[in-house]
Amino acid sequence: MHFGSAMVVIDKVQCAQIINEIILMKVLGLETSCDETGIAIYDTDKGLIAHKIYSQIAQHAEYGGVVPELASRDHVRKTLPLIDEVLLEAGMTKNQLDAIAYTSGPGLVGALMAGATIGRSLAYSLGIPALGVHHMEGHLLAPMLEESQPEMPFIALLVSGGHTQLVRVDAIGEYRLLGQSLDDAAGEAFDKAAKMIGLPYPGGPQIAALAKKGNPKSGLKLPRPMTDRPGLDFSFSGLKTAFLTAVHLALDEERCDEQFKADAALAFETAVVDTLVIKCRRALEAEGLKQLIIAGGVSANERLREQLEAQLKKIKANVFYARPEFCTDNGAMIAYAGAQRLLHGQSSGLSLSIRARWPLSELPPLKES
Ligand SMILES: Nc1ncnc2c1ncn2[C@@H]1O[C@H](COP(=O)(O)OP(=O)(O)OP(=O)(O)O)[C@@H](O)[C@H]1O
Ligand SMILES: [Mg+2]
Repeated sequence: MHFGSAMVVIDKVQCAQIINEIILMKVLGLETSCDETGIAIYDTDKGLIAHKIYSQIAQHAEYGGVVPELASRDHVRKTLPLIDEVLLEAGMTKNQLDAIAYTSGPGLVGALMAGATIGRSLAYSLGIPALGVHHMEGHLLAPMLEESQPEMPFIALLVSGGHTQLVRVDAIGEYRLLGQSLDDAAGEAFDKAAKMIGLPYPGGPQIAALAKKGNPKSGLKLPRPMTDRPGLDFSFSGLKTAFLTAVHLALDEERCDEQFKADAALAFETAVVDTLVIKCRRALEAEGLKQLIIAGGVSANERLREQLEAQLKKIKANVFYARPEFCTDNGAMIAYAGAQRLLHGQSSGLSLSIRARWPLSELPPLKES
């Protein structure tokens, strides 16, 4: 671009800001933080144009949880072929990509390294920017891929395999932690409870399916932890112990049959859901807000969605969530979150920075650069 006689080199974002145009970008998103390889292309004009998820669940199931080394090796095998499949689905070539977003934390270091190395190298070879994305910001923004979206500020309940957090969201990158689990995450508690009654990993969807056959009048009572005192923190380890005690008692009394397991699954699911609903309502009331986003694997839970809808109606508040495949790990959420920051000129340098632990509150706000 020329200003008078001097030639000034500016990038696409600065150029768009100067001439006040909306810039269009096709962003490739790579998610490899745990046991799913998720690849997607998000177009800031047309929305999500292609996505694919490859789940490693079958490989880890026999070990009852994720084996980090197996996860890293599988991401190395699957990421490049999946990128090709997604490009084919989008009817695009690599050269038509404008930027690449990859998950840079929190997560398993080896798994993160696999996606980050591929994403960063591909961006370098194509001469386009790359950005390391926060996995939980990806989850948090996933409901924005749907037609019905909240306006900020809102409350976000992040409920996944590794996190249970209530966050006040004033803007992208302006996050205030209101409460979190002091021990197990809700998804982790589902997985452990499932294991106790012989269900395979991941336990959340298994418990939810079995709970449908449970009798709500079985008499099995489980606690709603930390709901009898003020505050927005959670604790699921006591609930897990209460569940284990009930299972041991049923085993001792030789009544741990299929119906008992279904009743136990229902009692457990209801206890977790009631606890989450009480805290969400409390957070909305404390912050004087009327919109709630739920995100992360546990937000796929139907009972949680139904209960939130019913309970929040009473305080004239609304709940928003992503379609089930975008609640668990996926590339679409990373492409979307990355696109929002890339549009504002943010990008990562050539040296890779991977973080196994990374508080959401450390993310920078979206500033005009
Ligand atoms: N329908 C469901 N009901 C309850 N829990 C569910 C359901 N579907 C998935 N989950 C749980 O969600 C978790 C997986 O979610 P997700 O992929 O977001 O977690 P993660 O990526 O392992 O953890 P994090 O995002 O915190 O790093 C598992 O614990 C799983 O049991
Ligand atoms: Mg996740």
